[in-house]
Amino acid sequence: MGSTLFFLRATFAQVAPANNPPTFYRDVLPILQEHCQSCHRAGGISPMAFETARQTQPYAAAIHQATQNKSMPPWFADANVGRFSNDPSLTAEQIGTLAAWANAQAPVGEERDAPPARMWAESWSIPQPDLVLKMPQAAQLPANGDIEYTYEIVPTHFSQDRWVQMAEVLPALRSNVHHAVVYVRPPDSKWLRHAPVGVPFTASTLTDPEDRRGAHWTDSEILLVYAPGSSPDMWPANMAFYDKNKSNYQVPERRVVRYALVDVNQIRQGIQVSDDQLKVQYQKNIQDYQVPNRVHVEHILLMTVGNKTDAEVEEIKKKAEDVLKQARSGAKFEDLAKKYTEDPGTKDKGGDLGWLVQGQTVPEFEKAAFSLQKGQISDLVRTQYGFHIIKAIDKETAHTKSFDEVKESLRAPLLLSQADKQASDTADQMSAAIRQSNKTSLDDLAKQYHLTVSETRPVSATDPLIELANSKDAKDAIFRQRAGDLSLPIRTDRGYVVLLVKEIQPAHPGTLEEVRDKVVADLKRQKSIELARSKAEDLIKRVKAGEKFDPAAKGLGLDPKASDLLARNGTIPGAASGKQLTAAFNLNAGEVGAPLTLGQNWLVYQVAEKQEPNPADFEKQKKDLTEEALQAKRSLAYEAFRTALDERLKQEGKLKLMPEKMKNFGSLG
Ligand code: HEC
Repeated sequence: MGSTLFFLRATFAQVAPANNPPTFYRDVLPILQEHCQSCHRAGGISPMAFETARQTQPYAAAIHQATQNKSMPPWFADANVGRFSNDPSLTAEQIGTLAAWANAQAPVGEERDAPPARMWAESWSIPQPDLVLKMPQAAQLPANGDIEYTYEIVPTHFSQDRWVQMAEVLPALRSNVHHAVVYVRPPDSKWLRHAPVGVPFTASTLTDPEDRRGAHWTDSEILLVYAPGSSPDMWPANMAFYDKNKSNYQVPERRVVRYALVDVNQIRQGIQVSDDQLKVQYQKNIQDYQVPNRVHVEHILLMTVGNKTDAEVEEIKKKAEDVLKQARSGAKFEDLAKKYTEDPGTKDKGGDLGWLVQGQTVPEFEKAAFSLQKGQISDLVRTQYGFHIIKAIDKETAHTKSFDEVKESLRAPLLLSQADKQASDTADQMSAAIRQSNKTSLDDLAKQYHLTVSETRPVSATDPLIELANSKDAKDAIFRQRAGDLSLPIRTDRGYVVLLVKEIQPAHPGTLEEVRDKVVADLKRQKSIELARSKAEDLIKRVKAGEKFDPAAKGLGLDPKASDLLARNGTIPGAASGKQLTAAFNLNAGEVGAPLTLGQNWLVYQVAEKQEPNPADFEKQKKDLTEEALQAKRSLAYEAFRTALDERLKQEGKLKLMPEKMKNFGSLG
C-alpha cells in the first residue's frame, strides 16, 4: 500500500511542477464545472457552491481531502467490478491538480484563463429540457410515520415513439423526496390499466386485484431513478439514427491468423553472387544486350488530314517551309514545335518523340529520321498525316553492350531468383512435412526452418492484408481454412507463408460503440443533404413570392451564377447539361424550375431569357457541327499513327527501354 501511495505522488508532481502551481481559473474551475457543480452550485443539492473563486477557496483543503480519499464526487460502485459508463470519478491527474492547487494556498490566477461559466438551467442539471412532464397532482405526506409506495400515472400525450437523450427527475420539495422511479408504460401495456390517471394512488386504494398486484410488482421498463445526489441519465448520441439504420451497420466476419513466413527479402540479404556467376548470366542472355539502331527525334507536324483541296495543301506546305526556314536559321527547335506543331501529344514537350527504332513509324518518316546526323534538321517530310520537320537530337548505331556496362543491372535479378529458389525449396519441404502428418504444428515448423511466427490483425474479407503484401491467395486461404488447420505454403510477394486460423470473430450487427464513426459520418451526410434540399426549396419559395433570384440566393449563403444561352444539346459548365434541364425549355422567362438533384447537390434555376429557334441559326449550327466532326476525324487519324507506334513498341518488347518517353504516345489532348 505504501508503495502505491508513493507512485501516486510521483504522478502528480509531473502534472503540476511546484514552480508552476495550478490556478483556480485555469486548472481548477474546469474540473469543478465538469464534476462538482451539478451538486455544488447555487440552488444545487449540496450545502456549498463551488462556482466562484471566493466560494471555493475556503474549501481548498477539504476539496483536497475529499477528492484524495475519493468520497467526492460520490460514487459507490466497487472499482473491481468493472467500468461503468456514467462513472463521474476524477482521473488521477485531476486529483493531482486539485491537491497541488490546495498545497499552493489555492491561487486564483488570471480570470481571463477561465472557461466560460457553465449555464445551469433553472435548477436542472441537464440542459433546458425539450419537454417537462409535471405530476398533475401533488402527493400529500403525513407529518410523520411510514407511507405506502405511491404512484401517479402521468400521460405523455405522445402520438408517436420518441427517443430520449437525457432525463432528470426534479423534485419540487427536495428535502421530502426519498427517491423516485419513472417507469415507461407503452400504449398497449396492461399494467395498472384500471388505475386512475393524474392522481396519486397506492396499492391499498386500488380495487381491481390485478392492478393491486401490479402495484407491488412489475417488469415494466424503467426510464430513470432519482435519489438525492444521483446524476441525471444521458444516453449515447446518435442512437436513434443508428437504430433506424441498423441493417447498414453489419460488422463482417473477421479472422486472426498466425503465420510463419519464408521471407524472400531476408534470404536475399544472406546471399552473395560472384562476378563469374554474373558473367554466366550475361553470356546466357547476350541477345538481350544488343542495342538496335535508334534515333532520338523531335518533330513539328502541320497536318493535312481531312478533305483538303490541292490549294489548301499548298498553303500548309508554304507554312511548313516557313517554319523550316526559321529552324534552319537558328530558331530554337523546341520553341518552334511549341508554337507550330499540330501534334498535341508532343506540343508541350517541344516536339520530343523519344527514341525510335526501325519499323516503328511510317516509312517516309523513318527514312528521313534515320538518315539524319546528330543535331541535323530534315527537309520537309510528307506523310499521310501532313508535313513533318524532324530533328535528330541523338543517335546510336547497333552494338552489343559490354559485360561491364550491364554487370550491376544483372545482380539484383540474379539475387532475387536465387533467393526465390531457396524459398521455394523450403516451401516444398514444409509442404511435404504438412502433408505427411496432420499433427505438424506451426511452431514446430517455424522452429525447424528458422522462421518467425507472427499474427495478423483481425481482417475481414474486404480489409487489405497488409502483413502479407495484400496477397489474394493468402486472403482466400484465411477464409477457406478451418480454425486450427494448417495451410500448405502459399506464395505471396513477401515469400511463402503457412497459415493457421487462430480466431474467428463472427459477423454480427455492429453495436453503436463499434460503428459510431460510420454512424456519425452517415448522419452528417444525411443532415447536409436535408439542409441542401430545404435551402433549395426555400429559395424557390422566395423567388415565387416575388423576391429577385440573386439577392434571395445570396441571402441563403449561395453563390448565384448566370449561364450563357443554352441549347438542348448544350451544357452549363460545372452545373448541368441541357438534357438534365429539359424541363427548363418548357418554361417562360422569369419562371423558376423545380429543384434538380445532381448527386447530393440541388440546382435551383430561373429562366432568364428564352429564344425560339430560327432557321438561320440552324444553318450556322450545322456548319459548326460539321467542323467539329472533321476535327474529330483528324484526331482519330493521328491517334491511329500513335497507336501503331505504341503497338509496335510493345510487340518488340522495347517499351521498357524508354518508359518515360512512352508518355508521348498517350491519347490525344
Ligand atoms: C452528486 C452530488 C455531488 C457531487 C457531484 C459532488 N458533491 Fe461534494 N458534496 C455533496 C453533498 C450533498 C455534500 C454535503 C455532504 C454532507 O453534508 O454530508 C458534499 C460535500 C462536499 C465537501 C465537504 C466535505 C465533505 O467531504 O463532506 C467537499 C469538500 C466536497 N463536497 C467536494 C466536492 C468536489 C471537489 C466535487 C467534485 C470533484 C464534489 N464535491 C462533487 C454532493 C456532491
